[in-house]
Amino acid sequence: MTIEAEPSGAACGAFVRGIDLAAPLSVDDVATLRALWLGHRVLAFPDQQIDDDALERFTLAFGGFGEDPFFDPIAGRSNIAAIQREADETTPLFAENWHSDWSFLASPPAGTCLLSIDIPPRGGDTLFSNQIAAFAALPETRKAHLRTLTAIHSARGAYSPSGSYGKNDKGRSMAIRPSETAMATQTHPLIRRHPETGEEGIFSCAGYIIGIEGMDVAEGFDLLADLLAWQGRDEFVYRHVWENDMLIVWDNRSVLHKATGGYEGQRRELHRTTISAWAG
Ligand code: SIN
Repeated sequence: MTIEAEPSGAACGAFVRGIDLAAPLSVDDVATLRALWLGHRVLAFPDQQIDDDALERFTLAFGGFGEDPFFDPIAGRSNIAAIQREADETTPLFAENWHSDWSFLASPPAGTCLLSIDIPPRGGDTLFSNQIAAFAALPETRKAHLRTLTAIHSARGAYSPSGSYGKNDKGRSMAIRPSETAMATQTHPLIRRHPETGEEGIFSCAGYIIGIEGMDVAEGFDLLADLLAWQGRDEFVYRHVWENDMLIVWDNRSVLHKATGGYEGQRRELHRTTISAWAG
């Protein structure tokens, strides 16, 4: 079999065929897949009948398991979480804001894998936005200004006891575990170079940034809201439509992602792993 990648036609994303992820991956296969991943930023592997063992093997081959705060893993596994929603669930959708996974950590995960377990017949697409392209398309004066800024990230709005997944979030089937540790803050440059490709990208996300160093709250918020409108423009976005028997992997260092609804009354479940920290 020869590994082949078919670009999605959008600003990022490719479908990869010619590889059986149920079998162990050779060193050459991993090198090919990682190169495709760095180039396309989001890879989708359709028609893969694989289980959690294969998901773990794939994650280890891509760089090892990342830290996963605020989720309990699924039974019998230490590094797999279930992204799930029951058919009768009425809680707000999980992960509906643009974000880069766990950006509030000192060393956020390089990537994330999602394996389809239970896919509704329609809806539940995942959106990805290419932040290398979003930065490249900005005017030079704007780029120069953004390069001077440092963002303050925190999980407090989501995972602290008073956050959106905190004590008032009743009836959610996902195993989210809010904690006071979510109040911590972590700074990252707003514009950072991809540690493997050297490309500059916007590392800003509505989900976890609570301010900009040296700016008052309102000024920082205005800047972030304006930037966010740019980051999510259609020209940078790939809409991933799920199928059963599908694994995807994305690069948190170059894309933002968010969940979408449209599957009310249907169950949805995916198994998720994160790939360990920035390679630089
Ligand atoms: C996630 O952000 O990990 C979940 C995305 C999705 O549910 O589509």
